Amino acid sequence: MNVPAVQVDGLFKVFGRRPEDAVARLREGASAAELRADGSTAAVIDAGFSAEPGEIFVVMGLSGSGKSTLIRMLNGLLTPTAGRVHIGDTELTGLDPAGLRRVRQEHISMVFQHFALLPHRTVVENAAYALEVRGVERRTRLAAAREALDLVGLQGWADHRPDELSGGMQQRVGLARALAAETDVLLMDEAFSALDPLIRREMQDQLLELQRRFGKTIVFITHDLNEAMRIGDRIAVMRDGRIVRTGTPGRSWPIRGTSTSPASSPTSTAPASSPRPT
Ligand SMILES: Nc1ncnc2c1ncn2[C@@H]1O[C@H](COP(=O)(O)OP(=O)(O)OP(=O)(O)O)[C@@H](O)[C@H]1O
Ligand SMILES: [Mg+2]
Repeated sequence: MNVPAVQVDGLFKVFGRRPEDAVARLREGASAAELRADGSTAAVIDAGFSAEPGEIFVVMGLSGSGKSTLIRMLNGLLTPTAGRVHIGDTELTGLDPAGLRRVRQEHISMVFQHFALLPHRTVVENAAYALEVRGVERRTRLAAAREALDLVGLQGWADHRPDELSGGMQQRVGLARALAAETDVLLMDEAFSALDPLIRREMQDQLLELQRRFGKTIVFITHDLNEAMRIGDRIAVMRDGRIVRTGTPGRSWPIRGTSTSPASSPTSTAPASSPRPT
């Protein structure tokens, strides 16, 4: 049987007072706005999707739609208020802290928008950091980190300090750290969003190439439609905490305007109403 690399079922995250009560009310049909009036923020509402092994699954949506909250529940940085997350055949939501740590270290890497490098360590030590946390011996982890730096185009920078690198290069170190960790799942939250357009495109190309080479499962968050269309095998659109549609980029799914269109209902899976070019 083919197990999805990442599977999410009925996932909720509510911030504020009595979040479980809020989930019950949402299930009974209360709106996020009603909850907000009572002081709760429903950041993720009944989210469900699965990403197949080797797939780039993009989550797109406007600011505040719940993307970061969703992705943080995928690696246990945030505990869901309700619902389940599976990484491979392991249910994340049922693990104790030690088990969670183990899954996180061995299976999941994450790259953020502003990747925080450790300033007093060299670039290669930074790239080796995930392996260090995992207890991999120094020589082995530095060798793996050097290889990963080569892959992201940073050969020659291994022994420099992070502050000698441009922002784009620092993002590459973040990517190298994730690659060196050799986890099967890569979570990327607006990882390229702070980069200028040319570098950003270059990073997208590089990610696609690495993806072809290593076949990792990538959950990639962006608010940029072009980026989503360029790198996504599938794209989920989030609005106000809900995944309002999921589809494949390209002609079969004209998604122009869907991220802001008020017309599609929360449960809509139908294609956008705009006529399809022939
Ligand atoms: N720790 C928190 N406590 C309270 N509310 C939170 C918390 N984290 C997020 N929220 C709220 O949850 C909602 C979703 O936030 P989230 O950061 O997931 O959005 P996002 O889609 O990642 O936005 P952006 O594109 O700006 O990064 C927002 O209304 C936000 O204010
Ligand atoms: Mg975010």
